[in-house]
Amino acid sequence: MSRLDSFIRRLTAQRDILNAITDLVGEMEGPVLEFGLGNGRTYDHLREKFPGRRIIAFDWEVRSYSASTPAPDDMVTGNIRDSGQAFLGIGAALAHADIGTGHDEIDAVTLTWLPQLMAGVLAPNGIAVSGLPLEHPELAALPLPEGIKEGRYFLYRRV
Ligand SMILES: C[S@@+](CC[C@H](N)C(=O)[O-])C[C@H]1O[C@@H](n2cnc3c(N)ncnc32)[C@H](O)[C@@H]1O
Repeated sequence: MSRLDSFIRRLTAQRDILNAITDLVGEMEGPVLEFGLGNGRTYDHLREKFPGRRIIAFDWEVRSYSASTPAPDDMVTGNIRDSGQAFLGIGAALAHADIGTGHDEIDAVTLTWLPQLMAGVLAPNGIAVSGLPLEHPELAALPLPEGIKEGRYFLYRRV
């Protein structure tokens, strides 16, 4: 598969999963956390899906399109590994992490801290959506929406 096809399928999986869990998350209280704001495309989608909900975004620095940039109080800069620690226990309804790089050695380092952070920020029954697989005793894998191949994107519920 070409890298273009792979990229499109990954983003399609991301969007389809976020769409599939919208009602579930809509029934829960708590903020949405967006780890890896990037240029803000997914943030913009989350805003559309969860109008009025606090969405806190994280990245090394702000590099998003101005129209997809959170208010300063909802934008956290720095290494998520460190900046995310202040949000443990916040009781998020949804945490989404799109911080994989496609480089196995870099992603392996991210996976030494990301599962614990994702589990720690979620409320009980909160939903984790991730581009990297999250192995953690408090994160139970949920079935993917129809048409999404296993391993393309990942979906969990905090137990
Ligand atoms: C693939 S992009 C996210 C794209 C985003 N979903 C969008 O719609 O634009 C990944 C982002 O995560 C950020 N990132 C990756 N690891 C990070 C870390 N440890 N701390 C802070 N930001 C990180 C990168 O700077 C990059 O902007």
